[in-house]
Amino acid sequence: MKRAKLAVFASGSGSNYQAIVEACHDGRIEADVVLLVCDKPGAKVLERAERYGTESFAFNPKDYESRDAYETLLAKMLEDRGVDYICLAGYMRIVGRVLLERFEQRIVNIHPSLLPSFKGAHAIQDAVDYGVKIFGVTTHFVDETLDGGRIIDQAAIVYEGSDVEELTNLIHNIEHKLYVKTINKLINKKF
Ligand code: GRF
Repeated sequence: MKRAKLAVFASGSGSNYQAIVEACHDGRIEADVVLLVCDKPGAKVLERAERYGTESFAFNPKDYESRDAYETLLAKMLEDRGVDYICLAGYMRIVGRVLLERFEQRIVNIHPSLLPSFKGAHAIQDAVDYGVKIFGVTTHFVDETLDGGRIIDQAAIVYEGSDVEELTNLIHNIEHKLYVKTINKLINKKF
């Protein structure tokens, strides 16, 4: 079977990008990451991409007149490279109709909460502030709404401490395993 081609979209540290690439390298995922797209020039994920030899494209959305304009460019880059699936991993933007139409049911995201609770950029802190004791991670298909779309996988942990940094690390470790599981479901069409 032909190896699937993945693009990872990330704007931050890139620990999920790294987890995906390492799983591709050591055979836990039968795919290759062929492009890293980053909407924050200077983000740490770009250094990781360089280290792992992934082609990267960093852009500033403000340089384009609309979301359609930059997504049209991205769609061309993705299609030129034969990308099968887009994995959002800390990409802090809504995906628009251009990419959603061209990659229907082929864009997934990972979010550090048990969706549909705690959408948005501060999910872990918001859950802590709410007094949550069962935290978790969700992977889901992407639609045009913030952290919306059909859920693929979830994993949960019980945490009753008060150290948000410790909790964040625990959640990140779960994310890295859950994304591998979800990508395998995607490429084997088992969802
Ligand atoms: C992760 O917590 C992910 O769930 C969220 O953004 C964060 C990205 O972390 N969407 P990293 O850049 O992969 O370390």
